[in-house]
Amino acid sequence: MQLSQRISRISVSSTLVVVQKATKLKASGVNVVDFGAGEPDFPTPDNIKKAAIEALNQNFTKYTPTGGIADLKQAIVKRHAKDFGSAYSVEECLVTVGGKQAIFEAIAATINYGDEVILPVPYWVSFLDIVNYAGGRAVLLQTREEDGFAVRAEDVEKLVTPKTKLIIINSPNNPTGAVVPPEEMEKLLALAVRRNLLLVSDECYCQFVYDGHKPFSLGHSSNRENLIIVGSLSKTYAMTGWRVGFALGSSVLLRNMLKLQSHSTSNPTSFAQKAGVEALSGPQDSVQRMLAEYQRRRNLIVEGLRAIPGIQCNMPAGAFYVYPNVKAYLIRDGIADSAALVEKLLEQAHVAVVPGPAFGTEDHVRISYATSEEQINEGLRRMKEFFSQI
Ligand SMILES: Cc1ncc(COP(=O)(O)O)c(C=O)c1O
Repeated sequence: MQLSQRISRISVSSTLVVVQKATKLKASGVNVVDFGAGEPDFPTPDNIKKAAIEALNQNFTKYTPTGGIADLKQAIVKRHAKDFGSAYSVEECLVTVGGKQAIFEAIAATINYGDEVILPVPYWVSFLDIVNYAGGRAVLLQTREEDGFAVRAEDVEKLVTPKTKLIIINSPNNPTGAVVPPEEMEKLLALAVRRNLLLVSDECYCQFVYDGHKPFSLGHSSNRENLIIVGSLSKTYAMTGWRVGFALGSSVLLRNMLKLQSHSTSNPTSFAQKAGVEALSGPQDSVQRMLAEYQRRRNLIVEGLRAIPGIQCNMPAGAFYVYPNVKAYLIRDGIADSAALVEKLLEQAHVAVVPGPAFGTEDHVRISYATSEEQINEGLRRMKEFFSQI
């Protein structure tokens, strides 16, 4: 079969590959400590589940408007206004099948062949593949680990050419947990305005920030031409499987993204949308509980990793990932690169992590600490032993 050039430009998400390998091992009875999955281990809060059950009981099980039901759009713009001082109308809101679909559609609706997209490294793997699929050219902005992987508008500006169309920013960041300070975010938006670009701001982890950082969104700006916000209920409300995300931005752009949605998935699942209304409009205390727990786990894992000789680990300010540097253990004992290291770690110590090349760097691994304290302690114990034997 002759496959399209378009599909040959992308590969299966490498984070999913690790998850699959770990799942296979687990299914064969192996006790795996899984730091691979980028999803909360908490169950979806009960009030949210109840709203979905209620919707099912009321037979809310048919097609809905493709871009989402009106009460969910209302709930999204209200929550965003309350949390961040934004003022989006429902026409400036699109409900999508997870945040991923919003990103896919935003890129597909704006990128022509050869257009350039500025993407800071380390990046979430899907950004690169989606840009490639759309025929764009990712222009990678190298950040420095010793600088906490900071993204600066002045460095971004150096990469802008007449072909630049988009800048993609994800703060807090997957995989590093780095948070772009609000003043730098403002500079990035000012740059987008000055150079007539579109800033795609992925706020998927926006509620998970630590050490006195406050959740931040550029959405408080009235700019609709140069900014599109992508959000998700997946991480904030432990709803990864429900597949509810959204975009906030220019109604013209959203209408064009909707075209794509109407020919692919159609609406996000009807009763999941009703659950989304409850998630956003109901009590928010579960988010605070998860946040406090993530902060404790972050401290635990960073401390444990730093105690392993040769491993360097930044203290991330957000999300639920750490991105330690494991260079000291590469190119020795048959371990050529971080992919080989990750494989050995999984096979020998039964600890699943994701190799750095999935995110554009060679010397790191990504560890998701969205797992229990018990698992974190056990994983640290196994890693300590594993690394002491290399
Ligand atoms: C940075 C980032 N953006 C977006 C998403 C998409 O999440 P979802 O499609 O579940 O809303 C993820 C998921 O891992 C992510 O890490």
